[in-house]
Amino acid sequence: MFRKWIARTALVFCFYAAAPGAYPQQKSVDAEGHPWWQHAVFYEIYPRSFADSNNDGIGDLNGIASKLDYLKDLGIDAIWITPCFPSPQVDFGYDVSDYEAIDPMYGTMKDFDRLVSEAKRRNIRVILDFVVNHTSDQHKWFLDSKSSRTSEHRDWYIWRDGKGPSQPPNNWLSTFGLSAWKFDSKTNQYYYHYFYPEQPDLNWRNPAVEKAMLDVTRFWYKRGVAGFRLDAVDTLFEDPTLTDNPVLPGTDKFGRPNMNEKYNKKLPEVHEVMRKLRSVANEYGSVLIGETWTTNVSELKDYYGEHEDELQLPMDLMMTEFKGLSADQYRKHIAAVDAAGHWPVYVITNHDIVRSYTRYADGAHNDDIAKMMAALYLTLRGTVVMYYGEEIGIENNDPKSKDEVQDPIGKLGWPLEKGRDGERTPMQWNDSVNAGFSETKPWLPVPASYKTHNVASEQKDSNSVLSFYRQLLALRHKESALLDGNHVSLNEHDPHVLTYVRRYKDEAILVVLNMSATEQKVRFDLSPLGFTSPRLSVLLTSFHKPMAGMTDELPMEPYSAFIAKIAK
Ligand code: NOJ
Repeated sequence: MFRKWIARTALVFCFYAAAPGAYPQQKSVDAEGHPWWQHAVFYEIYPRSFADSNNDGIGDLNGIASKLDYLKDLGIDAIWITPCFPSPQVDFGYDVSDYEAIDPMYGTMKDFDRLVSEAKRRNIRVILDFVVNHTSDQHKWFLDSKSSRTSEHRDWYIWRDGKGPSQPPNNWLSTFGLSAWKFDSKTNQYYYHYFYPEQPDLNWRNPAVEKAMLDVTRFWYKRGVAGFRLDAVDTLFEDPTLTDNPVLPGTDKFGRPNMNEKYNKKLPEVHEVMRKLRSVANEYGSVLIGETWTTNVSELKDYYGEHEDELQLPMDLMMTEFKGLSADQYRKHIAAVDAAGHWPVYVITNHDIVRSYTRYADGAHNDDIAKMMAALYLTLRGTVVMYYGEEIGIENNDPKSKDEVQDPIGKLGWPLEKGRDGERTPMQWNDSVNAGFSETKPWLPVPASYKTHNVASEQKDSNSVLSFYRQLLALRHKESALLDGNHVSLNEHDPHVLTYVRRYKDEAILVVLNMSATEQKVRFDLSPLGFTSPRLSVLLTSFHKPMAGMTDELPMEPYSAFIAKIAK
């Protein structure tokens, strides 16, 4: 059967030219009732590092605005800008000192409004990052809170007496090193901070905090923001009785005992807040994307809400923790997510994780692997969230010594923890000095590979990582099987090659991904799917050699992707 199929297939093999940008105008809901965010490709921008319009070495909003045409052409539907609000920048913006303004380092509110309207002209939506768990210690709420035990905002944060002289209230640890409690001598109490001491946790049990924070979202929705990525939602609540966390064997990268964060993470109350944030988002037709670090699919499922009334898009960050490339590991995970029945959001990288290019690189096939991974997560069911620069194969550029480190966790944890500078380096626009990001020395250095891996050079090269992404994104916008098709896994015992069909009504697309360093010959049988003598039209491959000479097997080059339309 397969032989017959492939013979006919070989005859009709043809390449479709994917036309970048050739997809319909965005609407809130399409003709079949899919909300806009379901088919959208989101693109995360770290504003310090994207484009520097005023040449001070730090990116800004006008820089982002100047690159909207690039993003449009790439196939991006929404940008998520990590915090651009006033901030002392201890955690590079995740320590917000005013939720309703723009940090002058990034521009003005006028620049922001212009960015939103310029993006809208191109059918690109703007998503902001809402830091819900904590503020900066320089926020006026906290300054008032720490001023006296009876201040108006005292109970907006978590203040407690120590257990005894020089003893914090309990054994909870900050994820960024040291204790999670900081003593304040003025009022003789400790305050709680899950992250840096400069990021005190808000007390979400206080209704005044809840109201103020919901109002922040309204403020931005009214300015045209299409939704939020919610930061660190797992950490919103703590056990009010401050029970000690169970201590586990071994130590962490800061040399502290390992802990099971049972009493200060993922408390059920988090879900009530998600529902409240969602109900405000619904008033504005907006989307909520969650920074949801889950260890299994069932935990992730909870973030959608029992009645689909929490986050539309809780990020599945589990793939970022997979070790190595194993077809089986991906196959099992995709099957589990599929079985859970929600709309997935597979993420492979972001500003807190070593870049995907570096994580999967083997030194010999780096670009091939980047293309193959792109083909994986851009052809799976679900919404896509990309990270800037991933489309050109930016690699991590970790600090070479402790004095170079900017991220405080890197200073504290060196050398085991180098911090996150390496994955936050400037976008590589061309091969000129500073990769065309700025005329001034940028806040972080670009890796040497910017000479080959940059937008201008890759635009000219039809085999570049960027060219592959552009074609893939165009396909993703055009093919209903990729947008809405169900996922049918094939060759389930193949340890090297992940094969699946995406199927929607009469449309079907075959995706074959070789996750190994050796050539693989793949056979498959499409008859159980009703294709008794199927014909394949190749849509896109990452092969180096032409596809001639196929017999009854599909020869897959090492770390390669093959995507074809199946017709009866
Ligand atoms: C998660 C953010 O992605 C990370 O960059 C930040 O340091 C922490 N939350 C604290 O806000």
